Amino acid sequence: MREILEKLNQGIKEIRDLENLKRIKAEYLGKRGYITKLLKNISTLPAEEKKNYGEMINSLKKEAEKIFSQKNEGIRKEIENLSLEREKLDISLPGRRYAKGSLHPLNIVLREIEGIFEGLNFSIEEGPEIEYELYNFDMLNMPKEHPARDMHDTFYIDEDILLRTHTSPVQIRVLREKVPPLMFISPGKVYRRDADVSHSPMFHQVEGMIVDRKVSFSHLKGIMTVFLREFFGEETRLRFRPSYFPFTEPSAEVDIQCIICRGDGCRLCSYTGFLEILGCGVVHPNVFKAAGYDPKIWKGLAFGMGVERMAMLKYGINDIRLLFENDYRFLKIFA
Ligand code: DAH
Repeated sequence: MREILEKLNQGIKEIRDLENLKRIKAEYLGKRGYITKLLKNISTLPAEEKKNYGEMINSLKKEAEKIFSQKNEGIRKEIENLSLEREKLDISLPGRRYAKGSLHPLNIVLREIEGIFEGLNFSIEEGPEIEYELYNFDMLNMPKEHPARDMHDTFYIDEDILLRTHTSPVQIRVLREKVPPLMFISPGKVYRRDADVSHSPMFHQVEGMIVDRKVSFSHLKGIMTVFLREFFGEETRLRFRPSYFPFTEPSAEVDIQCIICRGDGCRLCSYTGFLEILGCGVVHPNVFKAAGYDPKIWKGLAFGMGVERMAMLKYGINDIRLLFENDYRFLKIFA
């Protein structure tokens, strides 16, 4: 009997799966199994041996069943442990982060410009990119054949409709639609046939306008100074130069101290120490007249700046195309 159990134990020692265990169990305990057969043999024995033999085989059977059920349990545990091991989850591992997007440098700059002017109580107005020639030029004191039109390299859509070349036509729209006093900026896209390291056929401007009964150039100077110092830093030196725009009189261009040489003179500033940053002036009476305002009653101040130029000077970007190519290596600098 010992031998049988010994053999059985030996036979299942290497078994690692329930399938094979079942097969071997059948070999011993199945209908035609070895131990079952031993039990059947009982009928061939003389009566006096039957009891002993029966008890012996039955305990053998019990013993074998116990071995099988223990082995069964063992294999089950082993399989379970294996799958637990395989599915192990380390909850202390840091999660995988999603690549996060970020604002485009032009949007960063635009939001900053808007934020500064909103802080000064300006509102924000918008106008269409497809504009009447009338609003883009004529009503801004640039009638047909006006030489200033040449500088704008205009994309015409048809005879009197064009892609706006600047945000100044929004001045006309707001003057016609709203009631003064007015104080607004108007950011947006503008278009000109021009492309090189500092020009793009589509770029952005921010226009600004103040209309009231008593405003003067000194207000304009104060506002431009507050704005530019806030944007470029409190230490930034400014220069107001007389200039010409058809829609303002007098007109000025504002320069900031060169961001590279800080005023000493370098290639970027053509050795002047200053960089041109925006145009501004007192609204021309013809603009008021065109919009149906009495220029004796209403005074206006206006200014306009290029957003790409602001961004390039603020961040030291030397090629405008970087702002439009969406090269991830460039954009992620601003994340
Ligand atoms: N519209 C001008 C341009 O595109 C910029 C400008 C200059 C706007 C002076 C103004 C201004 O409102 O007063 O070059």
